[in-house]
Amino acid sequence: MIIAGMIVIIVTGLVLAPLSAADEAEYAGAAACGQCHIQASDNWAHTVHGRRSIQIPGTPDAAQGCESCHGPGARHIENPVDKNTILRFTKNSIQPITEQNAQCMNCHQGGQRIHWLNSAHESHDVACSDCHNPMASVSQGGLLAKQTINETCYSCHQQQRAEFQRRSHMPLPEGKMSCSDCHNPHGGVTDPLLKTVRVNDTCFECHAEKRGPFLWEHAPVRDSCMNCHLPHGSNHDMLLDAPRPLICQQCHSQLGHPNDLLTRGNLANGTFPDARLIGRSCSNCHTQIHGSNHPSGVLFHR
Ligand code: HEC
Ligand code: HEC
Ligand code: HEC
Ligand code: HEC
Ligand code: HEC
Ligand code: HEC
Ligand code: HEC
Ligand code: HEC
Ligand code: HEC
Ligand code: HEC
Repeated sequence: MIIAGMIVIIVTGLVLAPLSAADEAEYAGAAACGQCHIQASDNWAHTVHGRRSIQIPGTPDAAQGCESCHGPGARHIENPVDKNTILRFTKNSIQPITEQNAQCMNCHQGGQRIHWLNSAHESHDVACSDCHNPMASVSQGGLLAKQTINETCYSCHQQQRAEFQRRSHMPLPEGKMSCSDCHNPHGGVTDPLLKTVRVNDTCFECHAEKRGPFLWEHAPVRDSCMNCHLPHGSNHDMLLDAPRPLICQQCHSQLGHPNDLLTRGNLANGTFPDARLIGRSCSNCHTQIHGSNHPSGVLFHR
């Protein structure tokens, strides 16, 4: 037993001592970087990371300041123009994006990023630093690359920027909501990167009254709000995917409806416009389209 113990000590001692010595030799220390990167160091000192590693040295990594992200920097100081000597996160970096992201994940694995691997962003080579700029407090929180979450997303998702300009939209361009109210940019179990397991659960977070339970359920509502609504914006009212009555007639035939209301000629621009189909159209009578709790609300009239 004693001999075995001694061997273990000798072996680990031999293996560990030279390694840690080599590591220490490569770190230049937080003060060294500031000598040349004066403005960057000053900006960084006011960020979450700067405040943490200066005031509360946590893990051994965190205590390395700049080098906790950029890696050991002694060789860089000797030869700053050699791009191999320091981990770079900017566009002209020669290190692969997976390596850059792994550096952040050293400390940020799990939590919101539990589904980061193979997510839409990860698998399309989007870098943490495409959305985050840890070098300065550009945004109010979250160390974002732009001032707000929405501007950060818009830098790549131009189509969604346009959709939110349509006449019916939720108050996101007005600054009252953000993309991350519905999406988790770090990955999720639901396509496309939704925060919840089902689309409807995302909507229920704010439109709780649509959750029910209802005595009379309307099948397509239970299935998915996307059967009738668009999430980002629509030129039809109420974010509808198609104007009424067309949206309803995608599923409901016009045959058999009382009073033959539903012919093309009954529409506002038809030959025999019917007042009951103008304006809110089918919803003039079927008002409780998301479900009804009235004992005789089976047709969503009440
Ligand atoms: C002797 C001055 C000097 C010191 C000290 C120094 N750097 Fe640099 N650093 C430079 C120069 C000069 C460049 C620009 C090289 C180039 O144009 O590619 C640079 C570039 C960089 C870049 C790449 C910027 C980019 O465009 O992506 C990073 C990151 C960086 N330094 C981090 C550090 C860190 C971390 C430290 C401390 C360990 C440090 N530097 C210490 C001079 C220095
Ligand atoms: C939390 C990780 C992290 C820490 C800590 C960090 N950086 Fe950076 N640094 C980055 C990222 C990410 C970028 C790329 C930002 C971008 O895309 O504009 C960057 C960019 C840079 C750049 C080039 C662009 C610029 O903004 O000037 C320099 C130089 C640099 N860092 C130096 C430093 C120095 C010096 C420190 C310590 C005072 C430091 N970094 C601490 C992550 C970090
Ligand atoms: C050495 C560990 C470490 C590394 C490496 C690291 N971080 Fe952090 N990061 C932290 C700590 C600690 C906090 C503060 C957490 C807290 O206060 O809850 C933090 C906070 C953050 C926050 C939240 C800021 C806020 O305002 O709430 C973001 C965003 C972030 N880091 C992004 C990054 C990115 C991007 C990288 C890689 C470029 C990175 N971090 C690398 C340790 C690290
Ligand atoms: C597509 C854009 C995007 C990418 C890529 C991205 N983030 Fe974020 N991240 C955000 C947004 C937006 C928030 C703010 C979320 C909020 O406040 O609702 C955030 C918040 C955070 C936070 C603070 C909240 C928390 O989870 O504690 C950390 C830390 C963070 N990100 C780390 C990372 C790391 C590490 C990576 C790379 C693996 C990364 N992010 C990649 C957009 C992104
Ligand atoms: C650096 C560019 C970039 C930024 C910034 C960015 N994205 Fe993306 N995003 C992509 C790419 C690339 C894809 C994958 C290809 C595609 O589906 O268009 C993607 C895919 C997505 C998807 C899933 C699409 C699908 O079909 O699965 C969602 C949702 C999404 N992004 C939301 C966001 C949100 C929210 C933000 C801001 C927090 C954001 N993105 C910021 C580049 C970006
Ligand atoms: C109210 C919740 C909500 C908000 C806010 C939201 N999205 Fe979406 N997003 C969705 C839903 C739900 C889908 C899936 C649509 C479908 O399945 O037809 C989606 C789909 C997407 C897609 C996949 C392609 C597409 O258009 O179907 C991208 C990319 C995307 N969103 C980006 C964004 C960006 C960027 C923002 C912020 C500007 C944003 N979303 C804000 C709910 C939302
Ligand atoms: C973060 C909160 C939030 C989430 C999540 C959310 N909404 Fe909204 N929604 C709002 C707000 C706020 C309004 C505006 C209410 C008002 O103007 O009275 C709104 C309005 C609407 C409207 C009415 C639009 C109009 O033109 O008047 C519809 C339809 C709608 N949301 C559907 C959805 C659907 C479908 C989802 C899920 C994909 C969803 N919402 C998720 C906050 C949210
Ligand atoms: C069968 C089609 C259909 C489906 C599916 C649907 N809606 Fe609607 N929704 C409508 C119609 C039609 C209106 C307009 C009602 C009116 O004018 O009174 C509307 C209006 C709304 C409004 C704004 C007015 C109000 O009642 O608050 C919200 C919010 C809304 N829907 C949320 C949702 C949510 C959340 C889901 C999923 C649980 C959903 N809708 C599913 C057809 C649908
Ligand atoms: C995606 C398909 C779909 C759309 C769009 C749709 N419905 Fe339905 N609706 C159904 C299904 C499925 C039922 C259940 C039929 C059953 O149980 O026999 C139903 C039931 C009904 C009922 C109860 C009558 C019955 O036969 O049970 C009424 C009334 C109704 N829908 C009106 C509307 C109106 C008004 C709209 C437009 C705002 C609309 N629906 C849009 C699929 C749809
Ligand atoms: C003027 C009021 C009114 C309008 C407008 C109206 N409905 Fe109805 N709807 C009724 C009444 C009343 C019934 C029940 C008739 C019965 O019990 O015999 C009904 C029944 C239904 C039913 C049950 C199946 C059936 O054929 O009896 C469906 C589905 C339906 N309506 C769909 C629609 C759609 C889709 C629209 C729009 C194109 C619409 N309704 C517009 C009053 C209206």
